[in-house]
Amino acid sequence: MANQEDQFKKVVSHAKEYGFVFQSSEIYDGLSAVYDYAQNGVELKKNIRDYWWRSMVQMNENIVGLDAAILMHPTTWKASGHVDAFNDPLIDNKDSKKRYRADVLIEEHVAKLEAKVEKEVEKAAKRFGDSFDKEQFLTTNPRVLEYNQKGAAILHRMAKSLEKEDLADVKALIEELEIVCPISGSKNWTEVKQFNLMFGTKLGASAENAMDLYLRPETAQGIFVNFSNVQKSGRMKIPFGIAQTGKAFRNEIVARQFIFRMREFEQMEMQFFVRPGTQKEWYESWKKTRLNWHLSLGMGAENYRFHDHEKLAHYADAAADIEFKFPFGFKELEGIHSRTDFDLKSHEKFSGKKLNYFDPEINEHYVPFVVETSIGLDRMFLAVFSNSLVEEELENGTTRTVLKLPAVLAPTKAAVLPLVKKDGLPEIAKEIVDELKWDFNVVYDEKDAVGRRYRRQDAVGTPLCITVDHETLVDKSVTIRFRDSMEQQRVKIEDLRSIIAKEVDIRNWLLKL
Ligand code: GAP
Repeated sequence: MANQEDQFKKVVSHAKEYGFVFQSSEIYDGLSAVYDYAQNGVELKKNIRDYWWRSMVQMNENIVGLDAAILMHPTTWKASGHVDAFNDPLIDNKDSKKRYRADVLIEEHVAKLEAKVEKEVEKAAKRFGDSFDKEQFLTTNPRVLEYNQKGAAILHRMAKSLEKEDLADVKALIEELEIVCPISGSKNWTEVKQFNLMFGTKLGASAENAMDLYLRPETAQGIFVNFSNVQKSGRMKIPFGIAQTGKAFRNEIVARQFIFRMREFEQMEMQFFVRPGTQKEWYESWKKTRLNWHLSLGMGAENYRFHDHEKLAHYADAAADIEFKFPFGFKELEGIHSRTDFDLKSHEKFSGKKLNYFDPEINEHYVPFVVETSIGLDRMFLAVFSNSLVEEELENGTTRTVLKLPAVLAPTKAAVLPLVKKDGLPEIAKEIVDELKWDFNVVYDEKDAVGRRYRRQDAVGTPLCITVDHETLVDKSVTIRFRDSMEQQRVKIEDLRSIIAKEVDIRNWLLKL
């Protein structure tokens, strides 16, 4: 645990030190759970967004984009169910005066049982060596079975109680499990209450005429209210999707863990409209497609897993998360939800406008069903950033800090470094920058010894360093150094463009999908 915490602290401080993420309004002591992306962070974030957008919109003929406004007519949120049901159950500890999400306290208790299972597996793997059969062990070992059954029963009961709004039972469960406040260590809890997560704001210049609005808590509703506009103007045929990236806002009760849970964050969502009755197939298909998208970045298949929802949101008939192994354990990275026809039907009801579709293949009008994929851009940033940050022991006994970002996402693709600041080397290096910058984000750096410059580029994840030396003057060749292997090759200046493209070209990465 201490190790995990240390690793996470390193992630946060590295993000700050190297210009990726800063606390918002830091000079005023910051604003809790709100962050700014700095010079390197903004590039990484943009590249992740592009990678998602291209794979969704550019690579699929039947998916188009949208950029809806953050402010929407307030009835939107009545229709979507957010005014009545977008709540988190909160509980206070009377001694520490700290506020918690009741469901998170219970989930953390279950996570401890899961950790015990992992320990048993580790112990058994050591004991049995090569003959260890993990699958068999998980399905037959009595202690493992007991922990898993206990965990499943707790989550099931919580899901049922939350579904029935039986908050007294949620509290009873916390008491029965003897969950203590991590700060005070006491079990002195208040009742569980519901807390709506939407931020309110006002539209209008005078107090009397002002209209109460909400900052959107998800981007999805901008897509639903535009369903007919897009379908008709784009002559879209079902099945088709609408994709959107943009800010969303939630007044989270417990916002910790850096950019994992923020109050202002960005979502990348796609609503896929399908014929009623086919939603299950599309749901399974999108689960696979989205997992493949993650795997294409090469961050390790073992770091992902699916988690099927026990407690379904008010709009869903099936839902699963793609969980990622963050420095603090497996947590939700993306949600895939089969949202039924709930949203479109509800908007029909509240707006009085028809939101149906005429399907020429079966000669029928219907309100389409929706399968949604929804991923937090900031959370994806944290997944990529934390997974890439490594301390590496080198053969000469020293260590280096390197951010092994997938090259397609790296903020800077190449750094051009004159070996010394004289003899015409800076001029050639600058010429190379001027040539490459049309296609790639490249930087020029002449300060300090070249070894230190390599380390600086390693720390911000630049996949390639190009060094100009005295040989360059003779034969127009440079040294290219690869970040991960630290291998160096002598290449011609005229070949640089194609060498860099091979590493970073989005096409080569998307081909893995
Ligand atoms: N339209 C469906 C929807 O919004 P969600 O599971 O509430 O579903 C989708 O959110 C994704 O948005 C999550 O998987 C997560 O990546 C991201 N997300 C949600 N709340 C967040 C927060 N407070 N901070 C950062 N990312 C968040």
